[in-house]
Amino acid sequence: MHVAMIGTGYVGLVSGACFSEFGVSVVCVDKDSKKIEMLENGIMPIFEPGLDDLVNTNVKAGRLTFTTDLGEAVKAADAVFIAVGTPTRRGDGHADLSYVYAAAKEIAENISGYTVIVTKSTVPVGTGDEVERIIREARPDAEFDVVSNPEFLREGSAIADFTHPDRVVIGTQSPRAQDVMRELYRPLSLIEAPILFVSRTSSELIKYAANTFLATKITFINEIADLCEKVGADVHHVAKGIGLDGRIGKKFLHAGPGYGGSCFPKDTLALVHTAQDVGSPLRIIEAVVDINDKRKKAMAGRIINACGGSVAGKTVAVLGVTFKPNTDDMRDAPSLDILPALINAGARVQAFDPEGMKEAKEMIDGVVWCDDTYATMVNADVLVIITEWNAFRSLDWARVKSLLSSPILVDLRNIYEAHEMAEAGFDYHCIGRPKV
Ligand code: UDX
Repeated sequence: MHVAMIGTGYVGLVSGACFSEFGVSVVCVDKDSKKIEMLENGIMPIFEPGLDDLVNTNVKAGRLTFTTDLGEAVKAADAVFIAVGTPTRRGDGHADLSYVYAAAKEIAENISGYTVIVTKSTVPVGTGDEVERIIREARPDAEFDVVSNPEFLREGSAIADFTHPDRVVIGTQSPRAQDVMRELYRPLSLIEAPILFVSRTSSELIKYAANTFLATKITFINEIADLCEKVGADVHHVAKGIGLDGRIGKKFLHAGPGYGGSCFPKDTLALVHTAQDVGSPLRIIEAVVDINDKRKKAMAGRIINACGGSVAGKTVAVLGVTFKPNTDDMRDAPSLDILPALINAGARVQAFDPEGMKEAKEMIDGVVWCDDTYATMVNADVLVIITEWNAFRSLDWARVKSLLSSPILVDLRNIYEAHEMAEAGFDYHCIGRPKV
């Protein structure tokens, strides 16, 4: 089996490396020659735990190579994966498919022999049809099928998600294409991962429905957390109490500052627009998008309240700026709303993140970036945890107290217990849990 993976972004690189680990011969293609050069030298363009080892082992074994030459890679491939970016188009919230369609054209020019073309990028319902039309128009002679095979990888645990998936979804009704896909994913039969064969359209919708459902679940618990604060309940207990019901499930019920990242914000918006376009609006998801946007903006207000109503002239220490731990990804991170709002309110912000500062520096102005966890706290009036990195889960409270000028802690991820923080002498604020 030979695979060409078009796009060495997050999805392409992880999927390519994992397929090579399955024993398949994989060529990862990118137009960006610098990126290809870096990868050839074993340098990862993104931070993902375990990825460098996986890539380097498979490169050494000769199963994984990198190139800028799409044509050669496609000619030799049994399956070509399109894993290019689909950013939100400016202005109208639709997914921008220009990279996908450009890749389809280039693939068409180079197909040789029966080839399965797989959309791995998250693409709106109907994109597979358009990819097929583009290829058919350019190469009426070509033998090919277009398949949808969405990824469900979480940043930070992408390799485990690929190698131990809850399910693999394959959208095609062509038996020939099904055989190629079955062969590619054969190693997963050892762990009995379910492989679901559905129509291409259903597969495209499964990806969006899954992500919007998860975003809804998070938004639901976030609103319940706000309600808990008003009525004196504890969102951890409520989440546990409902999550033990097998129909609800306990995952994705952590209240926090609102979801961010490369998928949920983009995919919720895109599905809302698709649904409006076909006259079948998804009002629940429209509400989720709106509530989450407002929630991220409201978080700075919580910090300001914890400081007695104003942060003007005060120093705020921030731990964690990425949208979640174990990634350097800043896309749609709550910190992008919180930090500028604090600065606008007159605060001096000192921040630290284990992996995200390089990217964050380009996205947020006016922050004093610090070298480590404790350096952020020097003479700060309040300590805020925005991202729950493990490194922030067992702080040395005596040291923290000696560095802060007032012992106020705002924990937007609920990683600490209110009674323990009270015992340690902190004025502790969290999400949806009673104060002690
Ligand atoms: C998500 C999906 O999980 C994955 O299947 C899909 O392929 C891509 O999008 P990812 O964006 O990497 O993955 O992160 P995820 O762990 O799902 O978290 C997304 C956001 O939701 C983060 O901002 C996270 O902090 C937030 N979140 C998650 C919560 O606030 N509470 C939760 O209970 C879970």
